[in-house]
Order: sequence, then C-alpha cells, then structure tokens
Amino acid sequence: MFYDIVVGPIGTLITCKNEGPRKGEELRDLPVIINGAVGIKDGKIAFVGKYEEIEKCDVGKKIDASNQMVLPGFVDCHTHIPFLGDRSNEMIMRFEGKTYMEIARSGGGILNTMKFVRYSNEESLFKSARRSAKRILVNGTTTFEGKSGYGLDFDNEIKQLNVLKRLSSEVPQKIVSTCLSAHFLPPEYEGKREKYIELVVEKILPFVAQNGLATFVDVFCENGAFTVEESRKILLRAKDLNFKTRIHADEIENYGGAKLAAEIGCISADHLLMADDESIELLSQNEVIPVLLPATAFFLKKPFARARKFIEKGCAIAVASDLNPGSSYTYSMFQVLTLAVFGMGLFPEEAIWATTLNAAYALSVGEEVGSIEVGKKADMTIWDVNHPIYLFYPFGDNCLSGVISKGKIIFLS
Ligand code: NIG
Ligand code: FE
Repeated sequence: MFYDIVVGPIGTLITCKNEGPRKGEELRDLPVIINGAVGIKDGKIAFVGKYEEIEKCDVGKKIDASNQMVLPGFVDCHTHIPFLGDRSNEMIMRFEGKTYMEIARSGGGILNTMKFVRYSNEESLFKSARRSAKRILVNGTTTFEGKSGYGLDFDNEIKQLNVLKRLSSEVPQKIVSTCLSAHFLPPEYEGKREKYIELVVEKILPFVAQNGLATFVDVFCENGAFTVEESRKILLRAKDLNFKTRIHADEIENYGGAKLAAEIGCISADHLLMADDESIELLSQNEVIPVLLPATAFFLKKPFARARKFIEKGCAIAVASDLNPGSSYTYSMFQVLTLAVFGMGLFPEEAIWATTLNAAYALSVGEEVGSIEVGKKADMTIWDVNHPIYLFYPFGDNCLSGVISKGKIIFLS
C-alpha cells in the first residue's frame, strides 16, 4: 500500500472516533492510541492504528510526531463569515457600560456591519472572506460554518452566500453555509416587520433552496431581534423547503428560543447563556445539539452558558467561536477551548469532543469530518504536548505545531 503522507509515529493519537455525537458522562472519556499512525491518500484518511502496522509501507512523506499529540482538525460550527468592517469602537462603548442591545438599537451592532457588507462588491467581500479562512486554517480549523445575515435584503444576502460557495471551492476547508436573513430587522422595514418576514419566506428562502446556496436556515430569536412566533414561521417554511434548521437562542434573555428548537427539531440551538432547566431538558430529549459559545460570553462580559447542566442532562454539547466583528472577534479555536475549560467548566476531554466530532454533527457532517477515521477527510492538528491537560496547564500558550487539511500540509514547525 502506498500513502501520500504518513503521520507517525505519533506519541498520543486522539481519534475522537464514536458512533454519532458523544453525550453526557461519556464526554469525560477520550480514547488514546499510544505510538499511533495515520496514513493519508488522495486527501482522505486511509489508515489509523499502531505505527508498527504501517512502518514498512511506501510513503511519499513521513511526519515524525513521536513526542507530540495529534487531534482531529477543529470544526467551528458557528461563525459569521463573511463580514467586513471594524467595530472596535463598540468594545469601548461596552467597557463604558453600554449593553450589546443598546449599541444595536442605536445603529451599531449588526446594522453597522450590514452597511459595510452592503457597500462592498462581491469581489472585496470574497477577498476578505478568503483572508479570514486562512487565519482560521492556521489556527487549526479545517471545517467551519459561515452565514449570511449582514446583507438583510435579497441581493446582499445572496451576495454573502455566493461568497461562501466560491470560498468552499478555493480553500482546503469544508464549509457549511447557513442562511440567516432573519438576523435583524433592516432599517428600511422599520414599522413593517411582517413585510420583511414575507420577503424572507416568499423570496429569499425559495431562491436559496433552488440554487443550493445553503444547507441550514437560522434565526436570531431574541427580544429586539425576532419573536418566537416570527422565528417559528421562518423555520417551518425552511423545513418545508428541505433546509436543516438552527437557531440563535436564549442569548440575552430566557426567551423561548431553545424550546422552539426542541419543538421544531432543529439540529442545533446556539448560545443558550440564559436557557432555563426546562429548555435544557427539552433539548436533550429532542436530541438538539446545544452549541455553546464561551468566547461570546467572555467578549461581552456575560456569565458563561451552564455547560455542566447540559452535560448532566445528557446533551451532546458542541463548542464554537461565533467569530464575528461585534460579539466575538476571535479566529482561534484554541482560545475558545481555553475559555470553555476555564470559564465554562469543561474538562479538557469534553472540550475536545465538543470542538471536533460533536461540532461536526452540529453541522450534519459528522460522517465526513470531525474525527480521524478511515474514509474521512484528512484533517488534523499536531501539538507539542503529550496529553490534553498540557493544552491548558501553561494556559494561553499556543503549542499548535502543525495543521493538515484535506491531506494538504498547511504548516509544520
Ligand atoms: O451570534 N447574536 C446575534 N448575532 C451574533 C452577533 C452578530 C454581530 O454582533 O454582528 C452572535 O453573537
Ligand atoms: Fe452567532
């Protein structure tokens, strides 16, 4: 057998192999292969096991990781790529005591980024998105989700989704697209909310469906954004059009978004900082994946989501960055992991499941990415440590020393 690349021997190989997403107590257990190896052929994983079984094979390139740890590439299952513009001034406003929603109501927030996105042409939005994808990749993220939601009219929502489509054909990462036209009411629809919702359900969603521009439909269900009733209408229409659904829920208030996700059967419910016990129970019973976003809580100086409660109730939690210019401006899943552990109370093992395989299931691509398994896309990260605890013990020190995406070596140091 000939392999293009063999990564081996690997001191500590963590494959994150599992039947379906990992839940509850099982998240504490993270199986390890000592002295393992991964064989790569044509961008896919062709062998996973002990190094001694593959040692004598013909190989294009061998990567010795004998004193290192290998993990699946990160899956960032919640970002707001593509966007443009700078909202650093809002960070100062928040430091001065203004809330996220106050800033949003005074023309900042999502509507601020909307102006940058509307005034840019598709090419400049694309170039910015490509730069972002590169920064995401060198930080070890080999699959990510991106959304519309900063266009907020037909042409500009489609522009954002077109950018994601082109991006996915030009970068080694897998990209999953979401249509989030119900992110915020655009100013020209002030006082005629139902007209905007009509535009979304009658025009934008059918066009996106016909042209295969998104897998998911999402809604920002929150006091000040879209009501539970409006969100239900949009998500049910999305289901009719064969989209998968997800929801920004219970971020600022316990508003009923998670309950709606359970009722509708969304794949994920995201944020959930304020979700009550009943909502958590319903998410668990209905197998909706809670996507927790600790970098947003940190950046907005809010209490973290109650991760331990979700685990105790048997949920398959995922953790993501929420990368966007307003509420969580980080390209680094390593930072997100650090916050998940120190801020949200996850154990290192739980944080690793939540940012790899479980995050892949939150995007419905758990059969293709998220773990190191034969047949999956050859995505992995190499770390200068021999145990997951050392990602956190010298905290904040990024010991990422290699990234492979689709069998392509992005860097090795
Ligand atoms: O997930 N909460 C709503 N939407 C984004 C923020 C977008 C923005 O502020 O630009 C979020 O945090
Ligand atoms: Fe978000």
